[in-house]
Amino acid sequence: MLSKDIRSRLIEAAEQARKNAYAPYSGNFKVGAAVLTEDGSIFNGCNVENSSFGATICAERVAVFKAVCEGHRKIRAVAVVVESPHPIPPCGVCLQVISEFGADADVIMANTAGEVTVSNMKQLLPLIFRFGHKESK
Ligand code: THU
Repeated sequence: MLSKDIRSRLIEAAEQARKNAYAPYSGNFKVGAAVLTEDGSIFNGCNVENSSFGATICAERVAVFKAVCEGHRKIRAVAVVVESPHPIPPCGVCLQVISEFGADADVIMANTAGEVTVSNMKQLLPLIFRFGHKESK
């Protein structure tokens, strides 16, 4: 179980990243995310859209990739913050990416109005696609 303090720190980090979201093609649908890694580090991310729409990347994937790029491969929790009537879960592609490094992670969904929903990867992605691989160092 995540402490309330860690949960708020993750939401705060996601809100900070959300300020830098680049979302001119979705009517400014700005998303912020943050991941908590095994050692307590936090990495955040925002969505970055592109005029070639398919090149857009979600906030959650930016946060996960930042963590992995810094050498953190175990994700304990993910937070996602949006300005919408209700909190939203990560999209399917992001769930798949999160599952690679945090199959048991908690998922905290919040909106800018302060509504918070807590779930977990097991619930949001009960079956994970896995491809046999040898762990690379
Ligand atoms: N988006 C995210 O950042 N995370 C999600 O989980 C869902 C969608 C972004 C991508 C795009 O910039 C905008 O929201 C609309 O889909």
